[in-house]
Parts: sequence; C-alpha cells; structure tokens
Amino acid sequence: MHVLAPPVIMASLEDLKEQAGIAACSFVSDGMAIGLGTGSTVRYSIIEIARMIREEGMNIVGVPTSEITRDLATKLEIPLIELDEANTLDLTIDGADEFDSRFDLIKGGGGALTREKIVALASRSMVVVADHTKQVETLGRFDLPVEVHAASLLGVKDAISSICPGEVLLRGGEIAPFITDNGGMILDCSFGPIIANPGHLEQEIREISGVVEVGLFVGICDAVVVASEVGVNTLIKPDGRLNSSGGVKD
Ligand code: 5RP
Repeated sequence: MHVLAPPVIMASLEDLKEQAGIAACSFVSDGMAIGLGTGSTVRYSIIEIARMIREEGMNIVGVPTSEITRDLATKLEIPLIELDEANTLDLTIDGADEFDSRFDLIKGGGGALTREKIVALASRSMVVVADHTKQVETLGRFDLPVEVHAASLLGVKDAISSICPGEVLLRGGEIAPFITDNGGMILDCSFGPIIANPGHLEQEIREISGVVEVGLFVGICDAVVVASEVGVNTLIKPDGRLNSSGGVKD
C-alpha cells in the first residue's frame, strides 16, 4: 500500500511579502504619524494600517512617499498629511531592493527613492519590510538607482560612468524614459557585485551636479522584518534607534 505524503505547500513570494508587510505593523501604535513607503511589499503594511484604523479605531496619520502610495492610502481612507505639517514622524515603514548585515539599503527599484529618503530621515525610526531574496551580506547585486534632474542627464551619466565599473542605464530607455514623481529620471548603475563602502559612494555620487538623490540608505534603517519559507523574522539593528521590544530608545 502506498501512503501519500501530505503535500508540501510552499509559500509564494507574494505570500512572503504579505506576511512581512503585516508583521511590521506590530511597530504601529495609536496616535502615530507614519511614513508610508512605496512598493509591492509595503503595500501590505498600508492595507493592514487601514484595517487597524477601521477595525481597531486607531488614530493614525500617514505621509506617502509617492503618488502611487498616496492613491492607495486615499482609496483605503487612511488620513494623510504633508510632511511639513508633521515635523517629525514616529515611524516609516518601507520596502527595499537589498538590505545588508549592517542594515544599509539599496532602494529606488520603484523610482521613489528621493521622497522615500526625505520621509525616512524625518522619522524617529525606520522599519523595512522584505522577503528573504532581498537579504545580502554586502550591497551591490542590485543596480543602484540614482535620480537625476532631466536637464543634467547626459552630464551626470558621463560622470557616474567614469566611476562605475559596470553599465549606467537610463530607466525606461531614451525613447520612453521613466519619469519620477518629481519630474526627474533614473539611472540604474551597476556598481556591483559589491559596494565596499556605501557611505563613501553615496557622498561621491551626491557631489555630482544634477544628481537629485542616490538609492543608498546608510545608517537610516533600524529594523528589517523579513519573511522566508521558515517564517517571519524581525531583525533589530543593535545600535539603531529601536529597543528589543520595538519601542524607540530614549
Ligand atoms: C521604491 C522602493 C521599493 O521599496 C523597493 O523597490 C522594494 O519594492 P518591492 O517591495 O516591490 O520589492 O525602493 O522606490
């Protein structure tokens, strides 16, 4: 007689994104002003925050990091404010294209890196949501997004090409370039396979005239909620701004 083994149900990448996105909302509490990131993983956090407002009566306001997130949050009836009205945010939840063992990030795969960095820097803490494929020992596998003023595109491309070992590509191509919410363009720069000193590279690129923002987030992220086949793990940066129970250190 054959005994059939129970089927092994593998979680899809979409399931993992949902698990991470929802789990990160354990950092959310009543009365918070929250930076709402951009992307397919943090989308689940935004949906969960809307549920917490609707079903648990939580008093939360959000600051969106992109027009896509503004539209989603508006549809979900999350009260929104402008960053200027908030001064300081309690928390930002956002996705990442890569995170490393020092909690440094590459962001901008969705093209929202400039507002994402402004909002994260205005926050008392930043929590990243990701599936396990985003975890690397050292940043650099993912091409580094750099937002550029459209009028400076060629000059910036030349300047970055002179320091970048790999290709520097205009996102969307020359005929139909991707345009950011700020009217800028994105150069995807192949600095990998490893970026040995992300902080130094960030400064070097920022000094190029015409660069709006660089998708390296160094020393900004305090925790990563990462989902894999074995479950959801919350990694708290030891010298970050969050304590082990998820509260902001005094
Ligand atoms: C947008 C971003 C995103 O957070 C990043 O690309 C991750 O997105 P996803 O969760 O869809 O993989 O930086 O600019």
